[in-house]
Amino acid sequence: MAFVITENCIKCKFTDCVDVCPVDCFHEGPNFLVIDPDECIDCTLCEPECPANAIYAEDEVPEDQQQFIALNAELAKVWPSITEVKDAMPDADDWNGKPGKLELLEK
Ligand code: SF4
Ligand code: F3S
Repeated sequence: MAFVITENCIKCKFTDCVDVCPVDCFHEGPNFLVIDPDECIDCTLCEPECPANAIYAEDEVPEDQQQFIALNAELAKVWPSITEVKDAMPDADDWNGKPGKLELLEK
């Protein structure tokens, strides 16, 4: 199993999650982060750190977010690793909780 980042990270990208990961399994795209399922050790530390509540254990990913399981695995292979916290995206607080952000995902 692994942990999975879901839609509400898009256009927020707070990066608090990155700070606690013991195995550096986060990868960064233009407006979203993903977790490499081959590197994640299920430590659970990142889940409560996300201000957008975007991180779930794979077996707890909501029904309407299931596509993010494959998306994390796919994008983790092509996006570079991120190991340090950085500023959230502009207007991250405004985007937190907005529906329909998947179509705004930049790859
Ligand atoms: Fe990293 Fe642990 Fe989160 Fe997996 S569950 S991404 S190992 S902090
Ligand atoms: Fe995204 Fe939450 Fe991390 S918004 S960057 S999963 S802290």
